[in-house]
Amino acid sequence: MLWLAVGFCALCGVRGQDCIEPGKVWHDAEGRVINAHGGGVLWHEGRYYWYGENRPARGFTTEVGVGVYSSSDLVHWTDEGVALAVSGRQGSPIERGCIMERPKVVYNARTCKFVMLFHLELKGQGYAAARVGFAEADSPVGPFRFIRSLRPNAGKWPSDFSRRDIRRAKRLKESDYTEWWTPEWRKAVADGLLLARDVPGGQMSRDMTVFVDDDGKAYHIFSAEENLTLNIAELTDDYLDYTGRFVRVAPGGQNEAPTIFKRGGTYWMITSGCTGWAPNEARMFRASSVWGPWEQLPSPFAGEGAEKSFHSQGTYVLKVEGVEDGFIFMADRWNPESLQDSRYVWLPIVFGADGVPVLRWLDSWSPAGRFSGF
Ligand code: GAL
Repeated sequence: MLWLAVGFCALCGVRGQDCIEPGKVWHDAEGRVINAHGGGVLWHEGRYYWYGENRPARGFTTEVGVGVYSSSDLVHWTDEGVALAVSGRQGSPIERGCIMERPKVVYNARTCKFVMLFHLELKGQGYAAARVGFAEADSPVGPFRFIRSLRPNAGKWPSDFSRRDIRRAKRLKESDYTEWWTPEWRKAVADGLLLARDVPGGQMSRDMTVFVDDDGKAYHIFSAEENLTLNIAELTDDYLDYTGRFVRVAPGGQNEAPTIFKRGGTYWMITSGCTGWAPNEARMFRASSVWGPWEQLPSPFAGEGAEKSFHSQGTYVLKVEGVEDGFIFMADRWNPESLQDSRYVWLPIVFGADGVPVLRWLDSWSPAGRFSGF
């Protein structure tokens, strides 16, 4: 009783206000509900910056832009305003009423710029455009300047495609495979049916994340080919374009919501299936090179509710600065009735004896309590 009276959390034992409570309403420093969905977190010079979709109370389009919050302890977040604002100009690719999703910001040490990539759908076109947007800023809180949007890697073939693979893919025609999910269709997709269709104009790019490796090289990881296939595409040194080197992961596997992190020499990717706003069972992949091969493993979610990923869909893996094995899986519990009211599910990743990531539900937890040295 005394414990509660002095403000300690009965669940995780630290000061109540210092806990992350997955699935509960999360307020910013001013007491307003945090509006940063499909987000990602950047650590820069001692502070964390959480970028996310600012979503309206009703409707599915972007009326404000990408929001940013900052924090030193990952629990208390200060609203830093709009990092990238929609444009009021008619015909702008980011015109108010477009859809901006899953923004991710990385810092480029060569150019000293903050670079944002996000999934962009053009106003009035639903999800047909399937583009990536690029924006850049001099400060982590922006303002970000929109640079351009595109479909990645126009005119390019995956780096692991031989001449023979390319010839075979070019021969495939969508009109020969009108029925989806047949064994013939699956093979054709794996062989590049949709990949080849999209080579001239660039690959479709929807759910996405960005990963910067230890050597400073950055990769854009996104759902391509009608959300059937993931692409991992290397960015140029300024992170504003593609080198043209890319690979496909799990062709036809319908992976969305990619998240990635590296622990020791192993790359881990946690993704979702493809069921819109409704939760589904996560997937996991492992590789010893970002270029693969990527081996599929069972979902990392364990315990009650694991089959629906605790009613959430991943968006990012946050590396806790300076803490070995400090990784937080960030996910969204979408509420399509009011996307603004979607909740955040942040959980620490634990590692089994075999080094395999596991996600277990916690009602409440504290980064300071969980990560020694934080
Ligand atoms: C989900 C995706 C979300 C959003 C939604 C739209 O599958 O992960 O980011 O695009 O579909 O229905």
